[in-house]
Amino acid sequence: MNDHTIKLAKRMAYIEPFHVMDLLAMARSMEAEGKQIVHMEIGEPDFVTPEPVIRAAQTALQQGLTHYTPAVGLTALRERIAGYYQERFNANVNPEQIIITPGASGALLLALGVLINTGDKVAMSDPGYPCNRHFVRLFDGDPVGVPVSARSRYQLTVDLLEQAEQSPITAVMLASPSNPTGTLLTRAEMGQWMKYAEKRHCYLLMDEIYQGLVYGEDSATIAGQCSHAFIINSFSKYFCMTGWRLGWLVVPPGYQREVDKLAQNIFLAPSTLAQYAAVAAFDSDSISILESQRQQFQQRRDFLKQAIQELGFQLLVEPQGAFYLYADCSRFTNDSFEFCQSLLKQAGVAIAPGKDFGAHESHRYVRFAYTTSMEQLEQGVEKIRVFLAGA
Ligand SMILES: Cc1ncc(COP(=O)(O)O)c(C=O)c1O
Repeated sequence: MNDHTIKLAKRMAYIEPFHVMDLLAMARSMEAEGKQIVHMEIGEPDFVTPEPVIRAAQTALQQGLTHYTPAVGLTALRERIAGYYQERFNANVNPEQIIITPGASGALLLALGVLINTGDKVAMSDPGYPCNRHFVRLFDGDPVGVPVSARSRYQLTVDLLEQAEQSPITAVMLASPSNPTGTLLTRAEMGQWMKYAEKRHCYLLMDEIYQGLVYGEDSATIAGQCSHAFIINSFSKYFCMTGWRLGWLVVPPGYQREVDKLAQNIFLAPSTLAQYAAVAAFDSDSISILESQRQQFQQRRDFLKQAIQELGFQLLVEPQGAFYLYADCSRFTNDSFEFCQSLLKQAGVAIAPGKDFGAHESHRYVRFAYTTSMEQLEQGVEKIRVFLAGA
């Protein structure tokens, strides 16, 4: 069959690939030709999974623990996560409300799957995590991208939503810390969202996947505080377990059975091996490794933040978390995608174009990820300096 004859659902017209993948492919072929590329486009930690977690997986394999677990995950892991909420955030979360999923991606799928009917409106910030709008489309919902700017630290606020959209909203997708901007919702803003959701009978899908990767202030959660919030989390980022494909969803009271039913049908169960490994992620020896890595991320952020501003990129707000800097590059270009392509081709530095994260003013933004070593970041900055001097 060729492309002209394949049958596709209409929704596929709305599903876009990541533009950065084209850049990554170009970077890989340049590397194959022997060129050195500095990677600042990749949204995953360069650190490998902590050793105690790897050892726990090896033990599970030796013990032959290779069968399905319950669809909602291992009780031991659900209890460890509830314990973590209690110890680290003083948040009271019933382990029964914690559903283990194949990554945060699996958690998003389940939350939207139990909530969204055809045509339901789901609000989200523009810029934001690009898959969100695609997940909504998968359930034939209507993603409502609300333009946000540096004025609200690129976060969606209740005021901005009310100004932008008058018709009823079924769910609001929020993220703190956010991808691509690295900014947080303040506690006051979280409080306003919780009140809004309860009053309007809509649901918050709160993405806390970068929780733990916060610099200069405490990490926060709304788990255990809101009867109208689904909380999405993952072992991918803080825990450095992207390839294990494991995350979790905290569901509001009353949703356990429905989410369990959907999880049984879609996934049967999350990866058994990954779950046994993840139980060890909360041990104190794992947490001390992760905390020292967090400090390295902070040093990298501090370095890169200053270095790119000296080069002439503008950071309009303080990026307090995740591992991203969302920088205004309008001093150099009015087409940030073209800028990323030239930077890669001519200087061997890969960064992500704003258009991967939405449509609002995306031509003037790029995203730097500090998911590589300090030496690489220093080299990258030097290469960008030379590139800009020659431009
Ligand atoms: C904001 C956000 N949510 C969800 C995900 C999905 O993460 P995973 O499925 O690896 O847990 C990502 C991955 O980059 C992300 O940045």
